[in-house]
Amino acid sequence: MAKISGLEVNWMSSEVLNNNNGNGNGSFKGQIWAVGGGKGGTGKSLIISNLGICLSRTGRDVLLVDADLGGANLHSCLGNSFPSVTLSDFIRKKVSSIKDVTIDTGIPHLSLISGAEDYLEVANTNYAQKMRLLRQITFVDSDYILLDLGAGTTFNTLDFFLIADSGIIVVTPEPTSIENAYRFIKSVFYRRLKKIVRHQGVREIIVEVMDRKNELGIKTPVELINYIGLINNDIGQRFKEEVLKFRPKLIMNNVRSRADINVGFSIKSTCLKYFGINIAYVGYIEYDESVWQAVRRRKPFLLEYPNTRPAKCLERITKNIIMNKDIEEEFIL
Ligand SMILES: Nc1ncnc2c1ncn2[C@@H]1O[C@H](COP(=O)(O)OP(=O)(O)OP(=O)(O)O)[C@@H](O)[C@H]1O
Ligand SMILES: [Mg+2]
Repeated sequence: MAKISGLEVNWMSSEVLNNNNGNGNGSFKGQIWAVGGGKGGTGKSLIISNLGICLSRTGRDVLLVDADLGGANLHSCLGNSFPSVTLSDFIRKKVSSIKDVTIDTGIPHLSLISGAEDYLEVANTNYAQKMRLLRQITFVDSDYILLDLGAGTTFNTLDFFLIADSGIIVVTPEPTSIENAYRFIKSVFYRRLKKIVRHQGVREIIVEVMDRKNELGIKTPVELINYIGLINNDIGQRFKEEVLKFRPKLIMNNVRSRADINVGFSIKSTCLKYFGINIAYVGYIEYDESVWQAVRRRKPFLLEYPNTRPAKCLERITKNIIMNKDIEEEFIL
């Protein structure tokens, strides 16, 4: 494992950037965090922008990238006005370097690449454009790069999630959000498996099982891995190792009760049982009026209301992600 600024880098970035995908040359020496998750409106942009503020307060340089290419709004979360340069300028090759679209947020150590233009062609970034973006990210000179990926399970979203050292899923305690989170975790894991295997037959099986109504009747990653193991023992073994390494992080947002917090633990145990995936439940954020009031005033809530409970929740989550720690059920009051 690589060491960065005294922090251990976990399983993904260098491995994927250098070896598996060939997305970049691996020159980036910091940590990439990405926030995604199936459903819209769960608090992803709000959380990633405030995680960025927390990290920047430690004196490390943080770059926030609004990679929600169809619905970017990170600049608003930070209280910045519509930026003059955005990720669209880079994707459309109006500028050659990603540095040319990086703007100062006015918050020390925190800069931003906004994706504020809402063109369909940008939202549907093609493979070559995506690779150029992924490659350039590896040249950025920053301690942390934080990516806001937006909702959904498009391949672009999944691929950005997979290059992250910490892939973070934001879920709220509602059935629709939970359902989407399971779908996202499954999709991103299948995408990861597909990227590490060359065997055409196995790749075709993975594509097939991504459809829930597949003819093989395979519904979970555990079933897929067992099935692949019967066809090819070596690949089955490799997949078993991958499932152990795959540890997406979960944040439960809009929490109003102890029962809501417990939904996070239920998701964790369900993922372990049916997917074989040991997600890290890194924390929850309470629902609070101060949060949406800050959003309405276009101010980051951590700066506007630093002593509120959601602000404390966020600081704890930042610490847990840095230290690679889960929250534990018995310590929740
Ligand atoms: N903990 C909270 N307490 C109160 N309100 C909240 C909380 N978290 C989020 N919100 C409200 O939810 C709104 C949506 O949040 P946000 O824009 O971050 O969601 P999103 O997941 O990024 O949405 P999209 O998928 O559309 O990008 C915020 O503007 C805020 O008003
Ligand atoms: Mg958003």
